[in-house]
Amino acid sequence: MRGGDGLDRTGTRSVKWLNAGVEQDPGRIPLGVADMDLPGFPALFAALRERLGHPALGYSRVDPAARERVARWYGRRHGAAVDPDWVVLLPFGPRTAVRVVLDAAAAGPAPRGPLLTPTPEYGGFAAVAGAAGRTVREIPLDRTGGTYRLPVEEFAAACRRQPGAVVALSSPHNPTGRVWEADELHALAAAAAGGDGVLISDEVHCEIVHPGHRHVTAVRAAGEFAASTVVVHSVGKAFNVSGLADAFLLVPDPDLRRRVVATLEGFGFFEGGRLLGALAQEIALEHGEPWLRSLTAGLTDRRDLIVTRLADAVPGAVACVPEASFLLWLDGAAFGGARPEGLAPDAGIREVLLAACGVELTDGAAFGAAGRGWARLNFALPAPALAEAAERIARFAEKAPGRRSAGR
Ligand SMILES: Cc1ncc(COP(=O)(O)O)c(C=O)c1O
Repeated sequence: MRGGDGLDRTGTRSVKWLNAGVEQDPGRIPLGVADMDLPGFPALFAALRERLGHPALGYSRVDPAARERVARWYGRRHGAAVDPDWVVLLPFGPRTAVRVVLDAAAAGPAPRGPLLTPTPEYGGFAAVAGAAGRTVREIPLDRTGGTYRLPVEEFAAACRRQPGAVVALSSPHNPTGRVWEADELHALAAAAAGGDGVLISDEVHCEIVHPGHRHVTAVRAAGEFAASTVVVHSVGKAFNVSGLADAFLLVPDPDLRRRVVATLEGFGFFEGGRLLGALAQEIALEHGEPWLRSLTAGLTDRRDLIVTRLADAVPGAVACVPEASFLLWLDGAAFGGARPEGLAPDAGIREVLLAACGVELTDGAAFGAAGRGWARLNFALPAPALAEAAERIARFAEKAPGRRSAGR
């Protein structure tokens, strides 16, 4: 087996497969980087192939219908009234989009405050904010009551103390898979607005939501604070086209939006110039919903498979059943002290599972201080390969001395 029965990514320079070392050891199963070892939307790939049949890939203008398309998608799929004027189409990915918003916020009248972000949290925010010269402050998520919640009071206090703070979070949340509640998001938007700052809600995982949950986009949840809120989105995660440049922003405040556009033009970008990403976005938003429903159903089955097996074999490891997307957050402490020979005694759970089981997860340290000792498992791969990964981890954990016993 090559990590993903049916989808062999050998030779494609996939970061996920290279990180896992599948080309050196075909028995390895890559469960790290957040893209899918599952085929994307066939109609989208057919449209890309057709476009590539034309022998010119020159500069392109923005499709005049693109903003309305985004607004219609939000109305239909997320029940949110989005003004097409809010939409800024970007010729790069979501991580760079965050940097542009940070620079645009800094160019405004408010002071340049710190970046405030929960921990654990997707590491892109801290990385780009640090590079942009902002202080980064992590605020631990609240884990009382067996789930993760946003510590909104702490964010509000920090925003009051440090004017011009930018609050950044992923919604739904990477790595825990939580779908934040509308009232939590409203409180966070109020906190940012209260400190003359901005809330950046990165919603790239919002199109895959498991039954029983509903994503509320921050521009809707924010209500009267929408003007201090920016949404970052892209079809990359859900449609498996993260290698294309298709991020977009929702920026309700016209002044901030002007500064965003000026910032990207200052880097030599313009809203067109994203030929293949724009095409992918068009096909996804115009025709992708039925396919997305079947993808989500398959991912819910995979989530249940891995959660059931690991919750049984490694009590306490599954901190939170994912409510969205294809990421599972695992507590390394639940695995006890088993170390394959040759590994350092302080090796993290990613290294342990790679050496002992040939499965590659993402080290929790990538998600800030609260992620140390944890790991993130990506379950978007063919079911037989996922079942094999689950068995390997479960068998290893069941033998491990000092693992947590059931009931803890
Ligand atoms: C919340 C979030 N934002 C952004 C990204 C990636 O952005 P980019 O494709 O620009 O690196 C990821 C990837 O895992 C993510 O989880």
